[in-house]
Amino acid sequence: TIKAFIFDLDGVIVDTAVYHFKAWKKLANTLGFDFTEAQNEQLKGISRIDSLNLILGWGGVEKTAKEVQELATLKNQWYVEMINKMTAQEILPGVQSLLSSLKSAGIKCALGSASKNASLILERTGLTSFFDVIVDGNEVSVSKPNPEVFLKGAQLLQVAPQQCVVFEDALAGIEAAKNADMRVIGIGEESILKNADWVLPNLEGQSAAQILNKLEKSRS
Ligand code: G6P
Ligand code: MG
Repeated sequence: TIKAFIFDLDGVIVDTAVYHFKAWKKLANTLGFDFTEAQNEQLKGISRIDSLNLILGWGGVEKTAKEVQELATLKNQWYVEMINKMTAQEILPGVQSLLSSLKSAGIKCALGSASKNASLILERTGLTSFFDVIVDGNEVSVSKPNPEVFLKGAQLLQVAPQQCVVFEDALAGIEAAKNADMRVIGIGEESILKNADWVLPNLEGQSAAQILNKLEKSRS
């Protein structure tokens, strides 16, 4: 039985995926090239430096390690400028009521994000207190699809990986959850998030009890 819900942040709890996209696009454009929304899907869930290295590869641009660090810092400055202005209004539909319903269902709750800005975003949107455990980019050493971030979450919550369900909008994140031997619900488009147990457009109208029920029925 499921005892814990683990949430990705960007694109699941808040729509910061668009801010990441804007900032990366601005950086690529500054370097004289562009990339597509399909390419952007590959960046979701991936650490800042891994994302930048992918982007530089797409543009055929070579930089020294020091320049790569500087470009990552620049992108993050633009990104932080945007997220600093965030409010609770930018919490995605259904998130607050689902988080509230966890307590009454006796379900633990963790954040499992690759972002080093996770705490700032949770503070700005007033969501910090909903999470029993927060695992973010400051605590993990390898990017999704490596399962480290989710396994750490489960460990801190003191539940087995098989007792967790992950909510993810990223291809890499869905693979990470699978690699952790956890159930995974995709948030976004079914045509993109093929490997999830199932896919929802967002969390609107979802309660912990409903999700637990559906997981129980669809257990393989
Ligand atoms: C999340 C996002 C990625 C982002 C990564 C690192 O996984 O989906 O797009 O690159 O976090 O975020 P950070 O805020 O540390 O740059
Ligand atoms: Mg995400």
